Amino acid sequence: MKKITPILLFLMLLTFSSVEAQHQIIPAPRSYEVSDGELMISQGLELQQLSESEELKKQLDLFSAEFKKMGIDLDMTSIDSSGVKTLKIGLNEIAEDTLGVEGYNLVIEPNGILLMANSTAGTFNGLQTLKQLFPAKREVSAEGEILPVKIPSCIIQDAPRFGWRGLMLDVSRHFFTVDEVKAYLDQMAEFKFNVFHWHLTDDQGWRIEIKTFPKLTEVGAWRVERHGKFGSERAAPKKSEKATYGGFYTQEQIKDVVAYAAERNITIVPEIDVPGHSMALLAAYPQYSVNKEFKQVNPGAKFVDWYGNGKFKMNIENTLNPADPAVYAFLDMLFGEIADLFPGEYIHMGGDESYHGYWEEDAKVQDFMAKNGIEDGKGLQSYFVKRVEKIISSKGKKMIGWDEILEGGLADGAAVMSWRGMKGGIEAVGLGHKVVMTPNEFVYLDFTQGDYSVENKIYADLSLKKAYSFEPIPDFVLDPELILGGQGNLWTEEIPSISFAFYMTYPRAMAISESLWSPKKNKNFEDFLQRTDAHFTRFDQKGINVAKTIYEPEVRVYNEGRKLMCELKNPFSDIEMHYTIDNTYPVTFGKKYEGPFELPAGNYSLRVQSFRNGKAIERLLQIPRKDLESRVK
Ligand code: ACM
Repeated sequence: MKKITPILLFLMLLTFSSVEAQHQIIPAPRSYEVSDGELMISQGLELQQLSESEELKKQLDLFSAEFKKMGIDLDMTSIDSSGVKTLKIGLNEIAEDTLGVEGYNLVIEPNGILLMANSTAGTFNGLQTLKQLFPAKREVSAEGEILPVKIPSCIIQDAPRFGWRGLMLDVSRHFFTVDEVKAYLDQMAEFKFNVFHWHLTDDQGWRIEIKTFPKLTEVGAWRVERHGKFGSERAAPKKSEKATYGGFYTQEQIKDVVAYAAERNITIVPEIDVPGHSMALLAAYPQYSVNKEFKQVNPGAKFVDWYGNGKFKMNIENTLNPADPAVYAFLDMLFGEIADLFPGEYIHMGGDESYHGYWEEDAKVQDFMAKNGIEDGKGLQSYFVKRVEKIISSKGKKMIGWDEILEGGLADGAAVMSWRGMKGGIEAVGLGHKVVMTPNEFVYLDFTQGDYSVENKIYADLSLKKAYSFEPIPDFVLDPELILGGQGNLWTEEIPSISFAFYMTYPRAMAISESLWSPKKNKNFEDFLQRTDAHFTRFDQKGINVAKTIYEPEVRVYNEGRKLMCELKNPFSDIEMHYTIDNTYPVTFGKKYEGPFELPAGNYSLRVQSFRNGKAIERLLQIPRKDLESRVK
């Protein structure tokens, strides 16, 4: 045997560590160890269910169908199976503590696969990982022969860091059909999200059938059709105009989606946003407002003046009247129906951005406040929130709301969703409330994710890197155990289709999923980028539109003395960037970027594009020089 020299040992270690880093699993598992050999599969696997469980059987049926789409047959028992490898899946008879409810152990060996968990939530997550170990599509040789799948032997032990790993979808600003919502849930499951926060009501549409109050959907689910920029360019509805855009979910459809989500280890948290954001509700039942005036569902026309610093004025009343007993009777019946439809622990009551102006100007509301010792609008909002909390808990549910519900004091059992940064969450933990962290600067998926020359400019930016840096537990927090987890939120003012919803959600939601699932010490952005790159092929395979802005050049403009300089960046070592600053096409024939360059004065645009293996990858950025000037910070 050859003597192992230190240099050889070094090379061996290097090889070993690169093998170890080879997986493409998102979110990264708690532990992944490569062992000897590899599993080679020609046609499929023989599936063996080790534990009696109807739920597991249903889950395996679901997965068999998914594997079939990937060209892997999991039903190999019927043929002569002398050479067939097995996929054994079971539930631990004695629960393994370190796995909790959602963890799993997955072993890949040359002769088969073993997946064990404490519950079907665990097997479900393990199967998601397994899918990611297989290629998205079977490879075919030059001769047209389907090649065997090879998976390196490995041992994966995995369990989530947080129990609440959510995504929120706003179906009010844009209505998504049942099938579209199911498609959204399918993708969530791939990345081990387990909470779907369904933002079902807002000023622009009420989306859930309530049997006791049919006008909520007869009137509230429909608005006049408008195009153009939401909140600025769209004309207000005319009184006589027919409302034709919208839709809602019947209670049967809601039950169907709830069951569909449950089969995918996803609990639905429904949101009924009150007392603010209620114009659609009030279009149906204006008697629940202070002024009781006729209203129409808002089509995205401007009705708010934003003053900055969180201050605003609603020029059309969109709040419920907290001084009216009839409002609470209404909410009692409403939340009763909601509680019956959604089996999860929590109901979300919104509570955000509620305008107190109409309350403060009304004599009857003022009387009510004086009688109840309430000093101001915040106090009245707090009174309202506490009553809603009583209603929700009377239905056997827990209440959660946006962080404004903290203002003026909050009922003990209520949980807080911190969206205006982390500070609401920190304060809530200090007061002993459970918290879900959704700080907008890290997890708002409607924010701009790439260069303004090719992306819609929203009021804020969120790059993939920033999303990846989301850490739900702040440095200084009294009781981190109270932080249930976090979630990404997709507001859909500027998102008119499911295809674009996917584009805005992925890959940033994958970054968020890794912050919520993976141990903090396993997180590494460079490694995540490589895995994300591999996942793009999977999305392409499924025909799902995702944002590949990370391939595009990042343009930074700065002054150096009197010169205007430009720096281009891209995180992938195999991507080249080519550019021109002389109004010529195509940039393939422009300069290859080697380092910062001067942008001389003149009337031209910077044109720049990324190339991989000599082929253009992603969009051409074209930025007029005067826009470049305005980018200097
Ligand atoms: C929110 O973004 N208004 C919760």
